[in-house]
This record gives sequence, C-alpha cells and structure tokens, in this order.
Amino acid sequence: MKRVDDFRLRFGKNEYVPIMVGGMGVDISTSELALEAARLGGIGHISDAMVEDVSDRKFDTSFVKDKTKLYKFNINNMDKSVVQFDLERLADAQRRHIGATMAAKQGPGLIFVNCMEKLTMNGPRETLRTRLNAALDAGIDGITLSAGLHFGSFALMADHPRFREAKLGIIVSSVRALQIFLRKNAKLDRLPDYIIVEGPLAGGHLGFGMDWAEYDLMTITQELLDYLKAENLEIPLIAAGGIFTGSDAVRFLEAGVAGVQVATRFTVTNECGLPAKVKQEYFKASEEDIIVNGISPTGYPMRMLKSTPAIGAGIRPGCESYGYLLDATGNCAYINSYNREVAAHPDEKNIVVMDKTCLCTHMRNFNCWTCGHYTYRLKDTTHKKASGEYQLLTAEHVFKDYQFSIDNQIALPEKEEA
Ligand SMILES: Cc1cc2nc3c(=O)[nH]c(=O)nc-3n(C[C@H](O)[C@H](O)[C@H](O)COP(=O)(O)O)c2cc1C
Repeated sequence: MKRVDDFRLRFGKNEYVPIMVGGMGVDISTSELALEAARLGGIGHISDAMVEDVSDRKFDTSFVKDKTKLYKFNINNMDKSVVQFDLERLADAQRRHIGATMAAKQGPGLIFVNCMEKLTMNGPRETLRTRLNAALDAGIDGITLSAGLHFGSFALMADHPRFREAKLGIIVSSVRALQIFLRKNAKLDRLPDYIIVEGPLAGGHLGFGMDWAEYDLMTITQELLDYLKAENLEIPLIAAGGIFTGSDAVRFLEAGVAGVQVATRFTVTNECGLPAKVKQEYFKASEEDIIVNGISPTGYPMRMLKSTPAIGAGIRPGCESYGYLLDATGNCAYINSYNREVAAHPDEKNIVVMDKTCLCTHMRNFNCWTCGHYTYRLKDTTHKKASGEYQLLTAEHVFKDYQFSIDNQIALPEKEEA
C-alpha cells in the first residue's frame, strides 16, 4: 500500500514532497504556514491578497492609513473611480511581504505566492503587472496565477530577468480554461511549470457556476491528463479540492498527477492566520453549515460557513482604504447592492445587504469564513478538550499526516495537557 512519500514532485532536476499548501487570502496562509511546508520539503503558498494591509500588520507600515487619508474626501461618494493604488507603494508592500518570507526560508522546499487576477484594483493590468514583477524582484520561488483566466499575465512579467527562472503555474478547473491560457500565452515561448486542477470542493472562490456539484475532481483531472498526453506536454499536474487524507492524495498520484494542493486541513493549525475563535468555528461546523453562495462581488461562487458574519452585513463600502475589487471602471458589485438597499430604506441605520458582501473589509477582518467542503471533517482530526474547545494542530503534524498516512487513516496529535 503506497503513501504520499513514495512519490516525488519534480521540477527539472529537483525533487519535492508532492504536497503543496494552497494560497489562502487574506493572510490565512501566513508566511509561517508556508515556511513550514518548505521546511518539510514541500511547497508552501503565501497570498498577495490585500498585501498593503498585510504589510501594515506585519511590518508596521502605514499603507492603508495613508490611502484612507488621501481619499477621505470620497468616503461618502459612491463613485469610487478616483480611488487608485499608488504602484510604487504597492510594489513596496509586495517586496516586504515576499522578501521577509523568502529571507526566513529554511529547508529543501519552495515558497510560492498565489496571485488572484480578480483583484482588479481599479487598474487591472498595471496593478497585476506591479504585483507579479515585485514578487519576482523579492526572490519568490514561484507564482501561482489564480482566480481568473490570466490571458495576459505571462506577458506582464516577460521582461523580468527571472521570468524563465521562477516557477510559474496556473490554476484551472477545466481543459478548456487551460487550452485558452496556453493559446493566449503561446507567443512567449514559455509554458507553465505546473498546472493546478482545482475541483468544486475547494475553499475560497470556485472556478465553477452554481452547478458546481455536478463536477468531480477525478474526472476533470483525467481529462487534463489525457489532454496533456495528447498534446505531448510534460507539465506537472497538481490536483486540488477535497483531498482530505494521505490516501485521497495517493489515489490522485496513482492516477498520474505530480502532486496535490491542500488547504482545509491546515486552517486549524497554529500557523494558520485565522483568529483562534474562527478556527473553533471551523472545527464545530457540520455538513449543513457549509454553503456555496454568490455574495462575492467577483461573480464567482464562494464556499463559506453559513454563520459567516459577512452575510447580510450592510457596511459602507471600504474602497478608500482597500478597493481591491474595484474593476477597470472603478466599480464593485457590492457598491451597487449597497446603494440599492440605502435607496430602498432611507431612514434605516442598519442596512442589510444579502446578495453581495464587502469582501475586502470582511476578509481583512476575518469575518468572511470561507472554507473547503470537508471542513465538517476537521473535528475528526484532533481531540476535543474538556472545555468543549478543539485542540489545534501543528502544520508539521498535518503535513506529515498527508505524507505518511495509509489506509485512509488520520493521525491524531498528541493530547495536550488539559
Ligand atoms: C480558507 C481558504 C481560503 C482560500 N483562499 C484562496 C485564495 O485566496 N486564492 C486561491 O487561489 N485559492 C484559495 N483557496 C483554495 C486553496 O488554495 C486550495 O486550492 C483548496 O482549498 C484545496 O482544497 P482543500 O481545501 O479541500 O484541501 C482557499 C481555501 C481555503 C480553505
């Protein structure tokens, strides 16, 4: 009976434990979490979602405060098109976040950054160009392009000296999305170094419609493996979404993938950036508590706990401070929903907005409890204490459980003293 450790993920001559810990914004997949994966010989992701805010918290910078001050005059104006990111400051924040992580790296693994295209930031091309190039400047080992089709993303960093050296990958949820990506990027004569196929059971935004339940990761994985073979493309394929045990991972590795990307099991580790209280919510969740809805202004369905405070919270749009989801014209679907409710209830102090949420503010405050489908199984991965709380895990424990477990088993951690 095989275990994950019998396989290796190969990039050129280098070999890694075939476990990637997926990017989880905003700073849910912290540097500490990614660094553990790298130390143990796998691949860890940080995320650059809301990187200016992340930098302020980590390095005591004042990017958000300064931006708020600059655009304070616009706070009551629902036209947010004036709210722009200063690209030099954005690059500075990105270099700090990534540079500090890379400086702390130990061990044989790699650190990648997850870059979501849907963070359009009222200037989609220029802000993405800045984020990608600053990540390369800061020495990141690899960049995973996510939440979008990324037609032009390779071109945005093609002039960077590390464009052909850093590992660059793309997350897709279908053969068609990959075909389009490859076609659009063909003229650069640079293939992705890896492809992540993310199925419908993942956390965060889904690359499917509300019919997500009709899709299945193994089927899509097979379709992608067949496509890569038919096209003679030797690009490592990584499977993600609902891989909960080492044995689940082995099933995918035996089917021919080069590695797996996992995240949900790590949301209840000490190193994960979620507040302790939220980690307990994840442990406590039952299957019925986990829903997929359309409240993200990105237009992608998103999975979350039903009790997430972001649902219905009609706060004033926080674009002057954040504004990461403002599109190329400076609009966000939440602003429209918020305006509609304000107009319908002019005398109401507590506005309720059900169809969309102010994702920037709520993700920033850890009030949008996005999670993977199997979050309801997390309680089976640890001990319940006499207090009723669940014992947190270490990233090392979870990583090694994926790496060495067999027979669908989940190793429980050593019991902490009560
Ligand atoms: C809390 C949470 C936040 C996530 N945030 C992001 C994100 O910001 N960008 C992204 O590309 N994927 C995100 N994901 C998806 C993961 O990176 C990963 O591919 C997926 O969840 C793997 O499936 P699993 O959670 O069932 O192991 C997130 C997942 C979780 C659980």
